[in-house]
Amino acid sequence: MSPRILTIFSLVLAAIIGPGLANAAGEFDNAIKSRKAVMTLYAWNLGQLGAMAKGEADYDPQAAKTAAENIRILATMNNGASWPQGSDSTALPGQTRAKVEAWTTYPESAEINKQLAAAAIAMAEVADTGLENVQANIGAIGGACSACHTKFRESE
Ligand code: HEC
Repeated sequence: MSPRILTIFSLVLAAIIGPGLANAAGEFDNAIKSRKAVMTLYAWNLGQLGAMAKGEADYDPQAAKTAAENIRILATMNNGASWPQGSDSTALPGQTRAKVEAWTTYPESAEINKQLAAAAIAMAEVADTGLENVQANIGAIGGACSACHTKFRESE
């Protein structure tokens, strides 16, 4: 690519992605935003399964299957790029709750993520086959979320 085309390409990219990338002070802003977004999606989907499991919402096999599939997809995708070195709460207090131990004890956090993925796969296989199966599998998912938060997330 010629330098001129490269410049135009960069400008277009910056316009699409937003100013975060070009801003050195906020070097990790987009990465942190991205991983928090994944967490929000986990909570949203798990919340639907949880409401059914507790009887606060009617059991809907299709909705349960969809929520479980979403958690499975989130737990099995490679989102490693949103956890760059140096984007921890010691380096960036107030901007993130990810403890530096997530990096210093690596791959401990990845192991917990594997447990979550296994639990999510198990749930996705049975979520539309009966409320009792949602109830039987939800503990393993919630347990993996909690295990990681206890170790690697600052309390609020
Ligand atoms: C591998 C570790 C790990 C697993 C597994 C995990 N989390 Fe998290 N979670 C974190 C960390 C670390 C943060 C803090 C992220 C930050 O502030 O940059 C977080 C933050 C969150 C947040 C707050 C997001 C925000 O906007 O600040 C929610 C909600 C959440 N997690 C829900 C869940 C749910 C639900 C699950 C299970 C389905 C889950 N998490 C699984 C490590 C994990």
